[in-house]
Amino acid sequence: MAKITYVEHDGTEHVVDVPNGLTVMEGARDNGIPGIEADCGGACACSTCHVYVAEDWVEKLPAKEAMEEDMLDFAYEPDPARSRLTCQLKVSDELDGLRVQMPEKQI
Ligand code: FES
Repeated sequence: MAKITYVEHDGTEHVVDVPNGLTVMEGARDNGIPGIEADCGGACACSTCHVYVAEDWVEKLPAKEAMEEDMLDFAYEPDPARSRLTCQLKVSDELDGLRVQMPEKQI
């Protein structure tokens, strides 16, 4: 279980407990958090689950696979360091305290 803070573009924060094994995208979807659309359902094929992770989390997360890297090119204003696709981030205890910010819009 990990406590994850999702921050909308306007600064509205949602703090939720997400069970291990789900993705960060599924944690948002299951809790009705706006700003992560996930059009492809988690197949790494749409880039509408894009977020910016907090600076201090960039190094702590598992590295991006090539597919995620490629899809991020299609995201809205991706940041080379902080952008991630939430459907590619598996939740575990190690992600407890993660903070992600949604972009102004998803593509
Ligand atoms: Fe489509 Fe993540 S949900 S790329």
